[in-house]
Order: sequence, then C-alpha cells, then structure tokens
Amino acid sequence: MAKYVGVLTAGGDTPGLNAALRGLGRAAQDVYDMRVIGFRDGFRGLMENRTLRLEGAALSGILTMGGTILGTSRDKPHKMPIGSRILDMTEVMVQNYRQHHLDVLVCLGGGGTIKNATRLMKAGLNVITLPKTIDNDVAKTDITFGFDTALGIATEAIDRLHSTAHSHHRIIVVEIMGHRAGWLALGAGVAGGADVILIPELPYDVNKVAEAILSRSREGKNFSIVAVAEGAMSLEEAEVYRAAEKAVEEAKDDESEAAAEARVAELDLAHVGHTMRLAAQLEQLTRLESRVTILGYLQRGGTPSAADRLIATRLGTACATYIEEERYGVLVAVRGEGTRPVPLPEVAGRLKLVPPDHPWVQSARFVGTCLGD
Ligand code: F6P
Repeated sequence: MAKYVGVLTAGGDTPGLNAALRGLGRAAQDVYDMRVIGFRDGFRGLMENRTLRLEGAALSGILTMGGTILGTSRDKPHKMPIGSRILDMTEVMVQNYRQHHLDVLVCLGGGGTIKNATRLMKAGLNVITLPKTIDNDVAKTDITFGFDTALGIATEAIDRLHSTAHSHHRIIVVEIMGHRAGWLALGAGVAGGADVILIPELPYDVNKVAEAILSRSREGKNFSIVAVAEGAMSLEEAEVYRAAEKAVEEAKDDESEAAAEARVAELDLAHVGHTMRLAAQLEQLTRLESRVTILGYLQRGGTPSAADRLIATRLGTACATYIEEERYGVLVAVRGEGTRPVPLPEVAGRLKLVPPDHPWVQSARFVGTCLGD
C-alpha cells in the first residue's frame, strides 16, 4: 500500500532545504510510489493544517533556490503562541497527522527541531529528521547541510575585509553566526586567514587578544582581522553562562526548566552587542582604530553551494529509503559518503561543539592565529 509522508521545515532557513525537499519528494514518489504533502511554516502549519502538495511541478526548479518553499518558523508544538497565550498544541498536531493518514512526518531542522520532533515521537507519531543548519552543531552527524554555503560566504567576507583593514590600518572585528557553536567562525577564520578567532568553546581573555594585535603592530602589520563567533564570550561571561546552562540540563520538571531557560534567555539578551563592546575594548587597549562588521542573515541567504546541494540531495533520497524500510524515530545522519540512522533520543538536546583539540583549532594555532585563550 502507498505510504503517506508529511514534511515540514522548521527553525532558521538554510541553503539546501529545497534541494532536500526535492530529493525526498522525487525519490518518495518516483521510486517508492509514496504520497508527499508539505506543511507550511514549520510546526505551526502542522497545527493549523496548512498544506502544500509536494509533487511534480512543485519540485521542479527548486534545487538551486535558497530558503524553503514550505516557509519556516521557530514555533514549538508544546509552547505555541496562540493570541496572547502560549499553549501546548501537541494533541492538535497528532490529530492532523492522523487526519491525513500519514505514515511518517519528516522534519528538516537543527537542534530545536530535533527536540520538537522527539516530543511528537513520544506523543505517538512516526518521525524522521534531517540535519540542517548553518551552525553545524547537530550531534552524531559528520556535517549539516547549509554549513558549507555559510562557510563560503563568511570566508569571502573575511577576504574582502582584509584589503580595507590593511588600507586604513584598522582592526576589523567581524561577527559570524553559529549560535553557541564556533564551527562557522573557526572554519571561515582559518580559511580566510583571520589574525584572531574567538569561539564560544574557548572563552577569551581580552588582554591576550589586544597583546596579539599589538605584537602584529610591532612587526609592522598595522591591521588585524578578528573573527568572532556570535556566541563567543570572555572567561568571566562563560562562567556565568555555564552555571545557567547547567541549571537547564539538571531541571527536574517543566516548571524549573522554564525558569532556568528564562535565565539563559536573560543572559542571551545581555550578550547582544557583545561584538561592539569587544571592538571598543580593543580600540582602547591597542589605540588602533576599530570597526565592526556583522554578517548576520547574509550567511543564510541565497543559492546553496554545490557541496550543500549534494548533501541535501543525498539525505533527502536516503530518507525516502528509510521510510520505505519503516526506519522511524531517527535522524538521517551523514557518515562519510553514506548515511546512518541515529535514534532521535541519542541526538535530541545534544550540541556538537568544537572540541578544544579539534584539528582546525590545532591548525589555527600552528599558523599563528590568536584564539584568545
Ligand atoms: O541556527 C541558525 C542561526 O542563523 C544561528 O546561527 C543564529 O544564532 C540564529 O539562527 C538566528 O536566529 P533567528 O533567525 O531566529 O534570528
């Protein structure tokens, strides 16, 4: 009997989402004779039952398109803003899944989406997730799609900032996305030859950063590029964050979890503007003029790189085979040239951070890059 597949994209949009939808949709229909419908705008569309047939023409011409033809949102099934209230709408989603006689719901997303999909799995749905995010921070997959494109954009930005920093003898502090992980800043920093790279996994001492910049000046290099991950923090800030995050991990019930999460959100708010403050501190400590460039959403926009199209197509088509084999409750992880099903509870709530001894970190040190630690 033909299987019925529902699919949604959730969390921040990422280059490669459409390539994955195309891969999944084509393989599901043309190879396995399945029926595929998409839900619009992430979990909100599943709750509101807003659908789109993902077949034939809908899958044509989208391989190279950025964003997601389904739309996306950061809404969570169990904390859905409805008017002025926040409600648990999990049961409504379960009913809509059943109303469409779905065999499986495929959720394309990063860490938050995987957690939400796992909640739906616990509520009785068959789910499969595909790892997408420019942050590359999903556990148990070699890589996530979207990362390569963002890496290329951030690297090109650093390349371009070099000539202007050099001409004006300035420090340019460039803020790179990545949420709490430093993959993007580290990768782009190494590839673009940044003089300083600051990532959340290696809390920094601003005096060491200033010293590295001054030592370049003494060698006659009167400019520096500082690549800063948006989640990078000083040693002092990192200590406060660690305590707040530990409270979230150790929360025993929903109420204490909500309180602990509120504390982390407060710290996140206080962290906004961190890159500007860092640039001002460096200017004061080095007496060199400093400027800031925040790359922001440019890193998520536009056409996916060839590598991302390839990964997304591989994952989408492999997902169709997993559905055919009824391997549910898994993340379709990238493993070498192939894929591997990883049970969702092994991935949900786990971040893949940069290990302090990662080869990229070693290489950065070996080429003389200051990591602020
Ligand atoms: O997860 C992708 C990402 O771009 C992060 O790098 C960034 O911290 C976050 O999304 C921004 O979120 P939003 O799109 O909600 O502003």
